[in-house]
Amino acid sequence: MAVSLAQNSWRAFRGAFLDFLADPFFVPETEAVRYLPDGLLVLENGIIRDFGDYSELTHKYPQISVTDYTNKILMPGFVDTHIHFPQTEIIASYGEQLLEWLNKYTFPTEAKFKDWDYGRQVARFFLEELIRNGTTTALVFATVHPESVEAFFTEAQARNLRMIAGKVMMNRHGPNNICDTVESSYQDSKRLIEKWHKKGRLLYAITPRFAITSTEEQLKIAGQLLQEFPDVYLQTHLSENLAEIEWVKELFPNCENYLAVYDQAGLVQEKAVFAHGIHLTEEEFARLSEAKAAIAFCPTSNLFLGSGLFNLAQAKSPETPVKVGLGTDVGGGTSFSMFQTANEAYKVAQLRQQNLSPLQALFLATLGGAQALALEEKIGNFETGKEADFIVVDHQATPLLAFRNRDTLPPTVAELAEHLFALLILGDDRAITATYIMGEAPKTS
Ligand code: GUN
Ligand code: ZN
Repeated sequence: MAVSLAQNSWRAFRGAFLDFLADPFFVPETEAVRYLPDGLLVLENGIIRDFGDYSELTHKYPQISVTDYTNKILMPGFVDTHIHFPQTEIIASYGEQLLEWLNKYTFPTEAKFKDWDYGRQVARFFLEELIRNGTTTALVFATVHPESVEAFFTEAQARNLRMIAGKVMMNRHGPNNICDTVESSYQDSKRLIEKWHKKGRLLYAITPRFAITSTEEQLKIAGQLLQEFPDVYLQTHLSENLAEIEWVKELFPNCENYLAVYDQAGLVQEKAVFAHGIHLTEEEFARLSEAKAAIAFCPTSNLFLGSGLFNLAQAKSPETPVKVGLGTDVGGGTSFSMFQTANEAYKVAQLRQQNLSPLQALFLATLGGAQALALEEKIGNFETGKEADFIVVDHQATPLLAFRNRDTLPPTVAELAEHLFALLILGDDRAITATYIMGEAPKTS
């Protein structure tokens, strides 16, 4: 039966569609992935209302306006589970590992974000860069200044993006101009939560920077905020660098491991995302698994800052599975592109004698990321009822990609996987033909 289209709020997209219905680390890839070589995605007001083979669906929507992307791959928008918007301008800063890099480049740059207008200019550039790279949702660090969060959310709201962000809490071991106090961090975070959490598509994350820059009292106040606002997020850094871990041991001698510092403050929970987690013990993996907390795997950053090789196979062990998303960690990370992030993730796995298939990598960048952010009811694949954030990908975007991926899109997933692997290794923002936010392609300024 034909669906009558009351207004022209309905529209449809035709092309090759790829998404995931389950985790390919735990079920066979052929069951986890859904590939429709000629599919139709039907939207009403930016929400997915129907999805299936073009030949089966088209008669139901005789009057609908169809945008045709034949020979392009339509995928859910990418999810970046760890990134710092104020560090955009220090991407690719030379020569240091984490603690020196923070002091030399990061802290002086973050001090500029007391100025709301400066923050807005950087937020604008940052969000356009994410969109150009096909990233439609991110979990974002601002700086210690509430103005930086205001600037970020104002710009994200103007683009109707599903974004999560928070004010950094840090009350020691940084310059005065980027430190707060236990009391001010509580008051500022509370005010920002009340103003921005669940405003449109925006969500708030309580954001203690890491154990070195927060006293035990401040971590406890972060835990208290989580109790007062149980549906907000928690984001921080964990076990990234060996010198960092040694210092945490000195600062918290009574804690049996790094994660325990956060656990004793009540921060280890389901909506918590811990960036890096490179040097974790088995006990820490088990605790993260039990708490249903997530790790943001940030390979370009981990290699660039010489931090180490994340143990993806252990995170994905059947005994103590931990939710994992990919993070760019710009400006410690070196690219906004989730293709390039997946490329480096593959190499990290190689160096650990592990494997990361192209479909597993794309799962991490889409539904896996959505699950890590507990947003799988809203985004992450093409299920009906979800928000239509999706990207149009050109597997032949550059001369080299066109040479390598010579054929038009193949009919089977097995053949497609070869194209996708080349895309992950060779692709970047040039392979993103379009990014749709709730069914709309934003005009970039
Ligand atoms: N640990 C504490 N702060 C930071 C940061 O800004 N970047 C990274 N990569 N690690 C951190
Ligand atoms: Zn980070």
